[in-house]
Amino acid sequence: MTSAVQTQLSEGVLTITISRADKKNALTNDMYGALADAIESAATDTSIRVLLIQSDGDLFTSGNDLGDFAKQSTGNGPAVRHVSRFLKNLATTTVPIVAAVQGKAVGVGTTMLLHCDVVVLAEDAQLVTPFVNLALIPEAASTWLMPARIGYVRAYELFALGEPLPAASALAWGLANRVVPNASLRTEAAAIAKRIAAKPRGSLAAMKGLMRDAQQIQAQMDRESAIFAERLKGAEAREAFAAFAQKRPPDFSKLG
Ligand code: COA
Repeated sequence: MTSAVQTQLSEGVLTITISRADKKNALTNDMYGALADAIESAATDTSIRVLLIQSDGDLFTSGNDLGDFAKQSTGNGPAVRHVSRFLKNLATTTVPIVAAVQGKAVGVGTTMLLHCDVVVLAEDAQLVTPFVNLALIPEAASTWLMPARIGYVRAYELFALGEPLPAASALAWGLANRVVPNASLRTEAAAIAKRIAAKPRGSLAAMKGLMRDAQQIQAQMDRESAIFAERLKGAEAREAFAAFAQKRPPDFSKLG
């Protein structure tokens, strides 16, 4: 397991900490693999009653590693891509998932929250989905789950403009359970996780299975993945990744 994802089991709660703060917790292929493994472990290890996802540093995650995206766009990505396994595990596990989010949650950092059961935001949390800015499309079944959760026009604006949604709005729109001071984020999230861990595991699993339509979510992810993969290889996306690497704004004007 990569050291950029750490796990710790205590009192039935498996805390999964994303820890690549120097790169703003950008998620690499190895990190997706480690996250996927951690979720998978809860399927067989019954001592894991709740998953708690948190991050080190000043922001939750800057989303997919853009260097990795750039490599994939030129056909130089890894032979095995773990992101699909991570998203599938996240979307289909019946183990409760609590998330603790500070600072920006970019891209998959926001869309993964749609699969978490309890979302605790720090006061400075911001949800950002700049997929279109990168010439991509939103993933993780968010093209279906986000409008279902917050309504079409809000979801469209969020995705099309890619502007940060402050914690207070995320709370008001039903994307989070609580907004808490940054200093108490981890203790509040851990306290909720522990309370859920004390509940009957089987009952929680059956309830979650009924509340989330895993099959429909997977079908939407498959549709998104095909389009995402196609767009990733396109000239617009290549320009967006080059612009990020060169620390300049993208110029899509010559690309039709
Ligand atoms: N992939 C790879 N590296 C990333 C990254 C990402 N998604 N996000 C940040 N980094 C790296 C930067 O390149 C920089 O590396 P360097 O120190 O070697 O130059 C380092 O992390 C710090 O990032 P920086 O941009 O200086 O931090 P910031 O606090 O000013 O801004 C963000 C933070 C998240 C707002 C900004 O980094 C950003 O917009 N990142 C891209 C987000 C994105 O588009 N993700 C994909 C979503 S689908």
